[in-house]
Amino acid sequence: MSDYAFFHKQFMPLSEAKISILTHALHYGTACFEGIRGNWDSEQKRFCIFRIQDHYKRMFDGCRILKINLPYSVDELCQLTKELLESSGYREDVYIRPLAYKSSEAVGVRLHNLEDDFLIVVTTLPTYLDIDNGVRCCTSSWRRVDDTMIPPRGKICGIYVNSALAKTEAQESGFDEAILLTQDGHVCEGSGENIFLILGGKLVTPPSSDNILMGITRDTVMKLAKNELGIDTIERQVDRSELYVAEECFFTGTAANMAPILEIDHRPIGTGEIGKMTAKLQKLFAEVILGSNPKYHDWYYLVSPKAVTA
Ligand SMILES: Cc1ncc(COP(=O)(O)O)c(C=O)c1O
Repeated sequence: MSDYAFFHKQFMPLSEAKISILTHALHYGTACFEGIRGNWDSEQKRFCIFRIQDHYKRMFDGCRILKINLPYSVDELCQLTKELLESSGYREDVYIRPLAYKSSEAVGVRLHNLEDDFLIVVTTLPTYLDIDNGVRCCTSSWRRVDDTMIPPRGKICGIYVNSALAKTEAQESGFDEAILLTQDGHVCEGSGENIFLILGGKLVTPPSSDNILMGITRDTVMKLAKNELGIDTIERQVDRSELYVAEECFFTGTAANMAPILEIDHRPIGTGEIGKMTAKLQKLFAEVILGSNPKYHDWYYLVSPKAVTA
């Protein structure tokens, strides 16, 4: 199976999709992207692209911030994604990566007077975090970028240098993932995930005003907790030390899914095992992302490849 791309308004093998080394976005990070999951249901023989409309709506927010003109509607972007997935021939979980970027071959830091372009690539995603056995984390010495620096509500490419610094520091120190704090020392999020805590039996997560990406998995988990377990999520500032005293803790993200956190800064979280509430939410989440629950049909964009070969 080959990786495929939608590039320069055409579908083509990834190996043929090339950009110039002078591309503005390559030099200055002037681009924004999405990460969308296509979950392969081997019984139904179809993909469930999960909350694709919400991903593209969020991409429009990033484009507004970066003054990128995306000449498609959300429905057109969904259709292009569907066609790309069909032509790829994959019959397994896939990761869809749309990217809107400043495409001019131009030197000079700015957002205006530049051309824009858009591409989508579909590929597979190796296991990102160990969702079955949980992860060990550290709080990062790097602080999360603030809305007054590069707005984190957009998935803006340049921001990911901040994430990469934190992730590499964590992994080179023997941890699986970093937890970044805000400038004023409150818990923000992982390098590519939102974070939740169970504190005094309540589900708690940092608010949008604390420079998090407004995660679609975060929203999914909050809705599942409310609808299926009758649990409200409290969105409020979280102190670093609350991480150490939480009964349970987990990450959410498109790449990570729901990943239990078992240890932070060499302190076990709760019993040091996957907590009960985390396990319940993980089960609900794993079921819902396959696309079979009519209650959540708005979240599903189903793609049945024409000729199934495997
Ligand atoms: C910094 C950051 N936070 C949180 C998330 C989780 O967002 P979502 O659940 O929409 O994938 C991501 C992943 O996209 C991310 O990069």
